[in-house]
Amino acid sequence: MVRLSNVADAARAISAMQVRGAPLIGATGAFGLALALRADTSNAGLEQAYAMLGATRPTAVNLRWALDRIRAAVTSQPPAARAETAWREAEALAAEDIARNRAIGDHGLKLIEQLATAGRSPVQILTHCNAGALATVGWGTATAPIYLAHASGISVHVWVSETRPRMQGAKLTAWELKASGVPHTLVVDAAGAALMRQHCVDIVLVGADRVTRNGDVCNKIGTYEKALAAGDNGVPFYAAVPSSTIDWTLDDADAIPIEERSADEILYPAGSQSIAPDGTAVANPAFDATPARLVTGLITERGICAATADGLAGLFPEYAR
Ligand code: MRU
Repeated sequence: MVRLSNVADAARAISAMQVRGAPLIGATGAFGLALALRADTSNAGLEQAYAMLGATRPTAVNLRWALDRIRAAVTSQPPAARAETAWREAEALAAEDIARNRAIGDHGLKLIEQLATAGRSPVQILTHCNAGALATVGWGTATAPIYLAHASGISVHVWVSETRPRMQGAKLTAWELKASGVPHTLVVDAAGAALMRQHCVDIVLVGADRVTRNGDVCNKIGTYEKALAAGDNGVPFYAAVPSSTIDWTLDDADAIPIEERSADEILYPAGSQSIAPDGTAVANPAFDATPARLVTGLITERGICAATADGLAGLFPEYAR
């Protein structure tokens, strides 16, 4: 258990990935700003903390969404009331995250039920990275339908891609599924396409870090490859997307800032021994964008829609242009 006592702790926890996953990054940012206001209630202090937290990781839009929400909640408040207001708003944001993910679970469950009704047993699900309870405040996004299906007695089996270089699939998703008693098998990232071609996958369920208003999905590096393989093999590809992960300001996935992380994550996966010769050039983009045309649908807290501007506007008319 790591206790975050001030805004610097919160920023470090996000940058160093002590907390990771778009919704949890957002929640940590929100509480980080509330912690900052306990130390300094001034506008200058608020802006400095906003900038520090905002600069931690660029891709997951939940961070900006959460920081904007807390800042908006306190800006009109007298300084003496700001810390308490911010904390209450962060708690509300966290509680809403759990409710959104549960609703995503209910909608996604219908997809798994349809496959089970069609005779798939177990229903074979492939997921990438960790879009689970450990990436959110509760339930997870892509995992919520899986947990509900398992709990309802539907036979499911999950292919878990290890997710190099930080191994979120192997270390976190496998851990969660084991703890929940959900049958699963760990595979290397590159195995997903072959499993789909061999008809071992009925549906791909992944999370998202940022979804554009026209349905492009940005998620952990390697997701795009899964979508291409799914498209080539007629496997439905769904992204579980809480509305906190939709960037209504963007309609072009290429405008999404893709985080480039340290080469060491690739070179030293298990400590001190480099896996490549000294001086080897390394690129470590942490996310990629899957174009909407490869996405069968988006599972949101308000229902499932096509990965299109109209699809999203249909569920979220308040953001329709
Ligand atoms: O680098 P990470 O571990 O923060 O990346 C996480 C992902 O890509 C998740 O799939 C995404 O944030 C959704 S979490 C519900």
